[in-house]
Amino acid sequence: MTASALDQSTIWYSASNEDAQSEIGALKPEGKKILTLTASGSRAFELLLADPSEVISIDQNPAQTALAEIYAVAYKHFDYDAFCRLTGLRQDEHRSALLDEALRHVSSDTERFWRANRNQAAGGLLYCGRWESFLRRFRQWAGSRRRALADELLHTHDLTTQALLWETRWDNWQWRLLLRVIALRGLWRHILREPGISYVPDDFDMTGYARARFEHLAKNLHIPELPFAWLVFNGAYHPDILPPYLTQKGHALIAQRIERLTLQTTDLRSFLTSAPTASLDGASLSDYASYCDENEQRAVWRELARTLRCGAVVCERKFFNKTGAGLPGEFGFTLDEALEDVLFRQDGAWFYSFVVARQVQK
Ligand SMILES: C[S@@+](CC[C@H](N)C(=O)[O-])C[C@H]1O[C@@H](n2cnc3c(N)ncnc32)[C@H](O)[C@@H]1O
Repeated sequence: MTASALDQSTIWYSASNEDAQSEIGALKPEGKKILTLTASGSRAFELLLADPSEVISIDQNPAQTALAEIYAVAYKHFDYDAFCRLTGLRQDEHRSALLDEALRHVSSDTERFWRANRNQAAGGLLYCGRWESFLRRFRQWAGSRRRALADELLHTHDLTTQALLWETRWDNWQWRLLLRVIALRGLWRHILREPGISYVPDDFDMTGYARARFEHLAKNLHIPELPFAWLVFNGAYHPDILPPYLTQKGHALIAQRIERLTLQTTDLRSFLTSAPTASLDGASLSDYASYCDENEQRAVWRELARTLRCGAVVCERKFFNKTGAGLPGEFGFTLDEALEDVLFRQDGAWFYSFVVARQVQK
């Protein structure tokens, strides 16, 4: 049984690389106690928008908890303008004063993290993650012609124009070369320092999968309307096309419900092992399987079977590592394959596939 973790001293994910409407559709969180993985915090905050009774958000990386805790404080204590200035949605030359103000309300671990890493917050919290900085650099490396084409993609008026642009101008030899580069495991291991790559089976066609998912995007989803697409093609969100947790309306609602959120630094299996039987109404497990083998996933599903109430749903996102998709059946869950397929086609972060499993025994 093996599992690994990202470098725990740094923030890897600082923005929303997902579309929480999928989790909300699968889990129907209203009035429920939901377990989630923190990462940037975006999914935990957006689950609050769906009126759960409680959200427990865990991450094994203390840096991710520190980021989410600052956001939680900003929802609670800052108006929308100050929230935007701290996150970097709006300019502020005195951002460090806002950070100091927020640090008055955080746990000692989080305070220590930000005192040691305050430079990371200087450019705004939203884009301080390693992944987000990679996306920004990638846009620079792509060169001025590719950037101009990306800007055209982000401004097409309809799907037909977008699909034509993709087919005739985007999908050329340079794009295909990039898709081949994506499959270079050494790049993930040594440049991106992503330990999860070891769990992607050798025979999984990373290039083919990436190509198919981007073609699905180009043909079926309108790129200019997707916050995640702005992050990928522009390196930053468009100010009018934000994920719900960053909008003024989202800020107001999350501020009212922020007390329902608990953040904790722990790994998933340890959390579940110490959780009482039948104590959870749902779980949103984005992408934990990228960091472990199938035996570790089996141990997680065994504990999920114990800790979830009858009728509770697990919604799992999968990135490149698709192993373990059949495990829920071993522990008495039923898969909702129809919904998995809908989410695979409709999710605004088009790269992921889904496992949606309902606990039916107890
Ligand atoms: C790949 S990220 C998902 C990023 C996500 N797409 C986003 O934008 O928020 C997965 C997160 O889960 C955390 N994680 C992975 N495996 C975990 C585990 N077994 N227990 C707790 N946290 C875990 C990682 O530290 C990381 O923050």
